[in-house]
Amino acid sequence: MSTRVVIIGASGRMGCTLLRTAGEFPELRLSGAIASACSTALGRDAGELAGGAPLGVAISADLPSALAAADVAIDFSHADATVEHLAACEAAGIPLLIGTTGFAPDLERRLAAAARHIALLVAANTSLGVTLLVELVRTAAEALPGSFDIEILETHHRLKRDAPSGTALALARAAGEGRGQSAEQALAGAGAARAGARAAGQIGFAVRRGGDVIGEHEVRFFGAGESLELAHRATDRAIFARGALTAALWLAQQPAGRYFMRDIFFKNQ
Ligand SMILES: NC(=O)c1ccc[n+]([C@@H]2O[C@H](COP(=O)([O-])OP(=O)(O)OC[C@H]3O[C@@H](n4cnc5c(N)ncnc54)[C@H](OP(=O)(O)O)[C@@H]3O)[C@@H](O)[C@H]2O)c1
Repeated sequence: MSTRVVIIGASGRMGCTLLRTAGEFPELRLSGAIASACSTALGRDAGELAGGAPLGVAISADLPSALAAADVAIDFSHADATVEHLAACEAAGIPLLIGTTGFAPDLERRLAAAARHIALLVAANTSLGVTLLVELVRTAAEALPGSFDIEILETHHRLKRDAPSGTALALARAAGEGRGQSAEQALAGAGAARAGARAAGQIGFAVRRGGDVIGEHEVRFFGAGESLELAHRATDRAIFARGALTAALWLAQQPAGRYFMRDIFFKNQ
């Protein structure tokens, strides 16, 4: 039996990539394609909008109706709408994968509450390579002495709205966990002005925006006389879509709870 998937943010860059990549998954059936209420794409066939063959699913702004005939939802839209999408999935009892980034940290309590009722996976980066990078960073931060300075550099296309990227924040949280820091401590340097000597123990962030760069993340551990660099570079947006669709198919089978990308790639092997 096929798994019925609703894509939220279907008219966007990631949404269209998900629509094009969905064809690689024969066990998946698109049952809904959602955009905002003021989208210029409303009413258009989702497949045609994504540059492919018609899929027989029109772009709509009515998420509750789409969820009534779905097994799982994937959200790659806008942070301002995350709470609304979460509430709709919770009300419908439909598992949700949130790939959207840039939402406020205070949403965490709301996510935890929702995960008591639905299977919920929030991933700032759904690529397999980045999932592994996060684990490697956690391990390196745990193994290396605290005297090593940790710096995260991320580069994205000129249109990206949030900074540092959700992936950079996830990498910092993982490094902080490796060092026994709270998430708050690990993220203290995000957005902080940098002047004067480096604060000991603080994770540093640097951001570059330009051109059409899909996403690059580099975590460097600076010691005395040596440094270690762990990095990932995305050259095709389809990696995020493939990972998200793989995760969504997995998530549709899970009971209520909070899940992470590493659960898909490591726990079941
Ligand atoms: N997790 C990952 O691996 C990963 C990878 C890449 C990107 N992302 C994140 O995914 C998100 C989308 O990125 P993108 O580059 O595809 O952005 P985008 O091209 O701007 O697309 C945003 C989409 O969201 C829709 N949207 C906006 N507000 C909405 C609302 N209130 N309700 C429903 N749909 C709404 C837009 O619809 P209309 O404009 O047509 O109304 C559009 O389809 C961003 O947060 C980005 O950082 C995550």
